[in-house]
Amino acid sequence: MSEILIDVQNVTHHFKLNRKTAICAVDQVSFQIKKGEILGLVGESGAGKSTLARCIMNLYQPTAGRILYKGIDTCDRRQFKEHKKMLQTKRQLIFQDSTSSINQRMKAVDIIAEPLRINHVHTPRGSARAEAEFQLHYVGMDAGCLDKYPPELSGGERQRIAIARALSMEPELLVADEPIASLDVSIQAQIINLFKHLQKEHGFTFLFISHDLAMVEYLCDRVGVMYQGRLVELAPTRDLFSNPQHPYTRTLLSAIPLPDPKRERNRRKGVYDAQKS
Ligand SMILES: Nc1ncnc2c1ncn2[C@@H]1O[C@H](COP(=O)(O)OP(=O)(O)O)[C@@H](O)[C@H]1O
Ligand SMILES: [Mg+2]
Repeated sequence: MSEILIDVQNVTHHFKLNRKTAICAVDQVSFQIKKGEILGLVGESGAGKSTLARCIMNLYQPTAGRILYKGIDTCDRRQFKEHKKMLQTKRQLIFQDSTSSINQRMKAVDIIAEPLRINHVHTPRGSARAEAEFQLHYVGMDAGCLDKYPPELSGGERQRIAIARALSMEPELLVADEPIASLDVSIQAQIINLFKHLQKEHGFTFLFISHDLAMVEYLCDRVGVMYQGRLVELAPTRDLFSNPQHPYTRTLLSAIPLPDPKRERNRRKGVYDAQKS
């Protein structure tokens, strides 16, 4: 049996808007991610995907429930503190828009090497620059980009830098929240292929959040579907796409455009109404 890396148990997260009202962004979600697995998380905007990812990364404290990482209860303050360095280096997060998540005034070399410096990690390749160059090659860019600033790079290149930065810590877990959503379609496929390649080489566990179902089908081993804060379905990718169980999943799948324009024009697209089902 393969090892469980993350165990999400009954996690709920409320955002308090004022004294009386709160939004339930994540509603009693439970699932596990196995070591080395690529798990996709899909669902429309507002479904709670990012909130859940942030809970997993300890950026939000869940209102209820707990999240175990290698058996460590990361929501427990004492346990988190005890394993803080490991949790902060071995789990890495990549955001949708690298323009806002990376410092625009730093050169690529410093962006990539910064986590090593902050966490006082020994650089296996000698200098921080050599390390950054290695990682840059790894994500398909050449050393000429090392001294460039983010505004001098394309969106795809900036996202590659964000990936190189995350990889410099040799993470066991990579969480990517809509990492391709802000890129041109042609670049999206390149980045997905890069993720696929890197995961194969490194074997890291990967939580991939996206609303692009075609990409999720191509990349992921299993897929979870979120709707209004709840995880309504979780299944191996092939099963989910060939035999979706939940009506919302069926609606979601019916919205994927077909490559044939004639079939696309003639087919019926579903609208999911939670009240009816
Ligand atoms: N910081 C916040 N304050 C208040 N409400 C929020 C905040 N972040 C997200 N929400 C709300 O929580 C719900 C889930 O949001 P989110 O996790 O961003 O969904 P997704 O990533 O699937 O689009 C939405 O209704 C959203 O409006
Ligand atoms: Mg989101």
